Amino acid sequence: MTRESLRVTLLSAVRRLEDAGVPSARVDAEELAAHVLGVPRTRLGLTPLVDGEFVERYDALVQRRAQRIPLQHILGEASLGSITVEVGPGVFIPRPETELLVDWAVKAIADVTRPVVVDLCTGTAAIALAIAAVRPDATVYGVERDPSALAWARRNVDRHAQAGRTKVRLRGGDFTDPRLLADLDGTTDLVTANPPYVPDDTPVEPEVADHDPSVAVFGGADGLDVIRPLVNVAAGLLKPGGWLAIEHDDTQGDSVPALLSGRRVLAEVVDHDDLAGRPRFVTARRVRIGDS
Ligand SMILES: C[S@@+](CC[C@H](N)C(=O)[O-])C[C@H]1O[C@@H](n2cnc3c(N)ncnc32)[C@H](O)[C@@H]1O
Repeated sequence: MTRESLRVTLLSAVRRLEDAGVPSARVDAEELAAHVLGVPRTRLGLTPLVDGEFVERYDALVQRRAQRIPLQHILGEASLGSITVEVGPGVFIPRPETELLVDWAVKAIADVTRPVVVDLCTGTAAIALAIAAVRPDATVYGVERDPSALAWARRNVDRHAQAGRTKVRLRGGDFTDPRLLADLDGTTDLVTANPPYVPDDTPVEPEVADHDPSVAVFGGADGLDVIRPLVNVAAGLLKPGGWLAIEHDDTQGDSVPALLSGRRVLAEVVDHDDLAGRPRFVTARRVRIGDS
């Protein structure tokens, strides 16, 4: 059986992906090779030679990535911090920048025993699952309107529950429906949300334009169509002293905090940057009786 150098195979894949305009060509070429070999990317160096069967399977995956199909759709999964969710057509792929919101959220409820958490716009349920993974005592709800995204959320929630983690409770529907969350009004210690927030005319990469559901990405002319009602619903869900965190576009570092500051029941409004130094999520707290 002929064998060839993995390094040479990788180099030609990187060139192919670069020619197709893939922004992270090297990482993606390595991730795909690791996937075919069934090893972590960091251990590729332990496989200097590959056989014809590898090359055939690898070529097919590289070709799909060169067509700008998202890496995560090809792999069938995406990570958010320490958790992995299944992804594919019909659901938004969790992004690394959302990990900062999750880290903040986990710290915000560190001193609350058996907290109630509601993740609005849950998509794959990644945020809800990441919080439930580190807070098994929490009751975590995920709310999703789109039936196709909700099906992915169900699959992920069931898989994590089968692995022995606390089961996230899903509510299918529009968070603006007053009946959907009425039983949780005033009971919630933490509301999280990564809503659709990209202004409609923003140019996006083919992976986003052709593969993320547009209802998960775009939020109207100024990107705030979903965030505006979300602030009201979140404020109603929170108990006094409860926390809120909403991810937003990097152009909304003033407008979204202003929406929160405009609500008398919300205080301690703070905007947070992502790792690239761009405004990325806002947090606030529901005022407690006696707060001035
Ligand atoms: C950007 S995706 C976020 C998914 C997930 N939270 C994450 O961070 O990966 C936004 C999600 O919000 C859902 N959504 C939009 N408007 C909604 C509404 N009014 N009620 C419930 N879900 C909504 C969309 O269907 C989409 O799945």
